[in-house]
Amino acid sequence: MPAVRFGVIGAGRIGRLHAENLAHYVPEAELLWVADVVKESARETAERLGITNWTTDYREVLADPKVEAVLICTNTDTHAEIIQAAAAAQKHIFCEKPLALNLSEIEKALRAVKKAGVLLQVGFHRRFDPHFRRLKELLEAGEIGKPWLLKITSYDPAPPPISYVKVSGGIFLDMTIHDFDMARFLLGDVEEVYAAGAVLVDPEIGKAGDVDTAVVTLRFKSGALGVITNCRKAIYGHDQRIEVLGEKGGLFADNPLPHATRVANERGYHTAPLHYFFVERYREAYIAEIKAFVEAVREGKEPPVTGLDGKIPVVIGYAAKKSLLERRPVRLGEIDSSLS
Ligand SMILES: NC(=O)c1ccc[n+]([C@@H]2O[C@H](COP(=O)([O-])OP(=O)(O)OC[C@H]3O[C@@H](n4cnc5c(N)ncnc54)[C@H](O)[C@@H]3O)[C@@H](O)[C@H]2O)c1
Repeated sequence: MPAVRFGVIGAGRIGRLHAENLAHYVPEAELLWVADVVKESARETAERLGITNWTTDYREVLADPKVEAVLICTNTDTHAEIIQAAAAAQKHIFCEKPLALNLSEIEKALRAVKKAGVLLQVGFHRRFDPHFRRLKELLEAGEIGKPWLLKITSYDPAPPPISYVKVSGGIFLDMTIHDFDMARFLLGDVEEVYAAGAVLVDPEIGKAGDVDTAVVTLRFKSGALGVITNCRKAIYGHDQRIEVLGEKGGLFADNPLPHATRVANERGYHTAPLHYFFVERYREAYIAEIKAFVEAVREGKEPPVTGLDGKIPVVIGYAAKKSLLERRPVRLGEIDSSLS
């Protein structure tokens, strides 16, 4: 089968990572174009990967009939517009999370995708992490029976720049959104959220109107409960753990370490430090999600993370924001009546 031909739109932090993965680790794909409004970013990324086509105008990528699919890795506020343009150009779409910060923009983009009949996958890479996947397989195999309680620990090593915080949509839509997706992936539909937040890491984050530390309680449609704990700063690295308690036992996905060698001394046993951040921690997951997208495109089947999977965590994020502001539990139906 011929390789799926791609254009990457947006060559920042995550765009460069996906472009490198496409070029080096996904033989079923061929990277043809890199686009970025910043000329140097587009050119430098393309040249480093030995690609001759680069542009500052993503429409040039969409106009190339050889391009079958695009990876949208631009700033969040441009996703909806680029999705619509890509759908109109009959390109299959992989879009980074979140689909957009505005629910009506998301609906518009999803309608355009449906109308064009192209495939859309959203960048919730943690679903492809081998440790979390194993936990999900065991859960589905009934290893712990009916799940009662989910605990997701998700801490970043350091907060993003304040300029990013200001346009990120806030912690729930930027950071917790991955945990909302994971919660749905593991335990199904969420019905209600109750969020608490605080500014403990950096007062500038508070001045930007956000919190840097949060606890979100989830009530699932199944009756199970969940709790997500987030912090923008854990000095020991990217702490990403999941626990599920069920009627027949528990499942625990701990932090994988960069290596398994320990040092022993008078102060005890010492392991390697955690992976620093998402680029290192989720290396395999980023490759696996793109491979899954390529497979969906090649086989013309629905991608494993759909447009609806992209939308619902945004709804949960808005419910969490409302809950934090109003200091009360908020049902998803208050934000989107289709989820009542
Ligand atoms: N899944 C993940 O783990 C993950 C990690 C980081 C970021 N993200 C998401 O990826 C997106 C990008 O984040 P980032 O950290 O890479 O940001 P970034 O600022 O490093 O990169 C964004 C790039 O897009 C370019 N750009 C902006 N508008 C453009 C346009 N119209 N056409 C072409 N290029 C354009 C910018 O010049 C910049 O180079 C965000 O939506 C973010 O939420 C996801």
